[in-house]
Amino acid sequence: MVNPTQSKPKILLSRRWTREAEQYLSERYDVTLNVNDVPLDAAALTQAMRDYDAICPTVSDSLNAAILGTPGARVKLIGNFGVGFNHIDIEAARKAGITVTNTPDVLTDTTADLAILLMLMATRRAGEGERELREGRWTGWRPTHLLGQDVTNKTLGLVGFGRIAQATARRAHLGFGMRIAYHSRRRATAQVEAQCNATYYESLDALLADSDVLSLHCPGGAETHHLINRTRLGLMKQTAVLVNTARGPVVDEAALAESLASGQIAAAGLDVYEREPIVHPGLLALQNVVLLPHMGSGTLETRTAMGLRVARNVDLFFAGQPVSDKVV
Ligand code: DGY
Repeated sequence: MVNPTQSKPKILLSRRWTREAEQYLSERYDVTLNVNDVPLDAAALTQAMRDYDAICPTVSDSLNAAILGTPGARVKLIGNFGVGFNHIDIEAARKAGITVTNTPDVLTDTTADLAILLMLMATRRAGEGERELREGRWTGWRPTHLLGQDVTNKTLGLVGFGRIAQATARRAHLGFGMRIAYHSRRRATAQVEAQCNATYYESLDALLADSDVLSLHCPGGAETHHLINRTRLGLMKQTAVLVNTARGPVVDEAALAESLASGQIAAAGLDVYEREPIVHPGLLALQNVVLLPHMGSGTLETRTAMGLRVARNVDLFFAGQPVSDKVV
């Protein structure tokens, strides 16, 4: 509980947030903003562990066991700005007695929209077309110019079937009449499957073989590292398109670049990368891959909602109430 006679909790926001979200927290707490918006290095994060009651990091901050185990740490809450938390060593946070929260729900639709955008850009060769036009290489309309693939009535395979995957499935099924297939650790309820007209695949490899578009929605981390590797890319159709809005390390980028270059699969649409902001040079050299800079949740409305969701967790935590988005 925050006692008005005590000083306000000290909170560090690791990057700039939208004005409304920064303002909400600044009015209630002793907040430090990262005014230059540069990523914090390990030394800065270690010092922050000693100086603040809460750190609100995001995907560009690596909170590893050494940082979370900083001797004499003051931090009791890590209020992550984002739904994915593979950049935080959750086990180390648990051991250190630090509460970690995330921001589910508020970015579901926005991220699903971007998965659909990448699917359409990759199948319809939109990046190639725009580059051709801007570079003055367009010679005019002709029947065989930049032929892509339809998505209507094709099969969308989803790896992982959480909120964002389901929102992507609804858009694809209701909007484009796509057949929805999915593989995940847990099978969804019959009701959820019916909402998206989704078919469960126990075997990931069988899903890969059947999908015209494969969209990744599983969490990052050790369990899914290079889940999509050279062997699995080899199981996909030569016409298939891979979409990744989940986490970069789920895909072996070197193997993907080779598969795209050799025509093993047709195209890809990526929003996330193994070593952000570095992108594999083999991918940068290709035309048949759409490359976006990790902007899945990037709308003003959604980034504000994410900040306010972190703020709600901060409010609950410092009011001594149970936090709703508790990861650990
Ligand atoms: C998320 O919420 O996980 C986004 O990818 C940003 O981290």
